Amino acid sequence: MFITFEGVEGSGKSTQAKLLAEFISQLGHKVTLTREPGWGQLGELIRKVILDNRDLELDAFAELCLFCADRAQHVRDFIRPKLEAGEIVICDRYYDSTVVYQGHGRKLDKRLVNKIAQASTLDLLPDITFLLNLPVKTGLTRLQSREEITKMDEEPLEFHEMIRQGYMLLAKREPDRIKKINADRDILEIHSEIRSVVSELISSN
Ligand code: TYD
Repeated sequence: MFITFEGVEGSGKSTQAKLLAEFISQLGHKVTLTREPGWGQLGELIRKVILDNRDLELDAFAELCLFCADRAQHVRDFIRPKLEAGEIVICDRYYDSTVVYQGHGRKLDKRLVNKIAQASTLDLLPDITFLLNLPVKTGLTRLQSREEITKMDEEPLEFHEMIRQGYMLLAKREPDRIKKINADRDILEIHSEIRSVVSELISSN
């Protein structure tokens, strides 16, 4: 089973992905938690170039290609082998991030972005995606107490609003796969909602 987490900055995805991994492991299943971008040798380089290097003003199309290159390698060398070995894989961000950040945020041609993002999955689509939904301003305020601030976090408010709208559109388009979760709540309340969805999925598999 392949589970992904999506959401605007500061939505608490990473915390929820971690809590879910712990829960699944307590149930006795093998589970792997990973994230994008940044897996492996290529991912580390790509992450540095896209998110950390403030001397380089990256072209939007180049950025799209780099996120997708990171994903293809991640799927081929890590995610797919884990799934084939029977593990449950949880990924903090996946191709929906490309669709909304590069398509809606950077305003590249949406059809082109969708195509390239889809191709970068090497046909591996998530069984379920949790979209942690909360007002952009709430998320950005939460970020202020964080140590690692990326170039993307520093984009203007309008950029982040486009991201949220993009996600809402995706959730409308694919309601069966993308579960919208109200993230403006207590951490454990959110976790409990996610947990019950996943428990049901595991028992029906
Ligand atoms: P990261 O530091 O991993 O933070 P978080 O996932 O908690 O926001 O930052 C990853 C950034 O990269 C994030 O701002 C979203 C962006 N991103 C894209 O623009 N496109 C993509 O395809 C992916 C995977 C991420």
